[in-house]
Amino acid sequence: MARPAGRIHDSDYTAGVAARTAALYDRVKRVVPAVEWPVFAPDIDAILELKRRRNAVVLAHNYQTPEIFHTIADIVGDSLALAREAAKVDADVIVLCGVHFMAETAKLMNPSRKVLIPDLEAGCSLASSITGADVRALKARYPGVPVVTYVNTSAEVKAESDVCCTSGNAVDVVESLGADRVIFLPDEYLAKNVAAQTDVEIISWQGKCEVHERFAPADIEALRQAHPGIVVLAHPECDRPVVEAADFAGSTAAMSKYVSERRPAEVALITECSMSDNVAVANPDVEFVRPCNLCPHMKQITLPKIRRALETMTFEVDVPADVAGRARLAVERMVEIGRSR
Ligand code: 13P
Ligand code: SF4
Repeated sequence: MARPAGRIHDSDYTAGVAARTAALYDRVKRVVPAVEWPVFAPDIDAILELKRRRNAVVLAHNYQTPEIFHTIADIVGDSLALAREAAKVDADVIVLCGVHFMAETAKLMNPSRKVLIPDLEAGCSLASSITGADVRALKARYPGVPVVTYVNTSAEVKAESDVCCTSGNAVDVVESLGADRVIFLPDEYLAKNVAAQTDVEIISWQGKCEVHERFAPADIEALRQAHPGIVVLAHPECDRPVVEAADFAGSTAAMSKYVSERRPAEVALITECSMSDNVAVANPDVEFVRPCNLCPHMKQITLPKIRRALETMTFEVDVPADVAGRARLAVERMVEIGRSR
């Protein structure tokens, strides 16, 4: 019988579990305290076995905690990479460790696979800021203006859009349309950051990421005073003055690439907290200062819930057929633009 997610069984940390997971602990020991490993290891060991039994793969976003990201995930990345990679999965089951719109996108990209999310409450403040009816109203107000929708939206909103984008390709997608103006939804700050990099007129919405909207330029100023020479990387879901105060802005994958290629002595990632832990594991010579904010939605996903998802094959994410066809087209157009550029 499946155990309730969230209960801790220290007694499950047997000698066998310790031996089978020792190499995994070695990988994450820089960011996972030794005292926590006996709590994580039994679930990790069980999940690895369940993945084999269910013929499942785990896709994990860069904001997942390191004990998920670096031990049980088969594919990790930013929203764009997860959408692309989901399309290629040939296992029977995809467990999406991220938020609901990511699981929906995986289902759109690979509809014949069973897609599970370990907690249905893992939402997103951007996705919940706009509905399909809102998009229809905007289209009526701006007839003929193409609609570019951030992937951080429901399938219903994607279905009303011409093309999707992520923070990794937003400018390319906007410019690919050859239009003088576009409706860009729903992130107001990402829209401002895109507008600063293109001549295309951007009509935006008032959605915000509840994690990134909390950063202010003063946070970066304080960092620079306390850590002279520090390199500051910000996510483009931050407001424009925050991005302007940073040394570089890019998607979570772009931030990760920046650190591994340039290897700054000291760096701050102005984004969700787990990001620094995950990048730190791969870059032991880089010092991370962590002025981060937690995403409560990403943090709904835990090892016990992933274990339960694979034990009980819940919670399955599906998209109604009438919405799926149109939403898939918008995501596929985005992926196609990436291929041709
Ligand atoms: P990216 O990983 O695409 O940069 O997205 C960040 C984010 O907030 C996802 O929820
Ligand atoms: Fe949504 Fe922001 Fe959380 Fe990403 S970090 S899931 S954009 S609330």
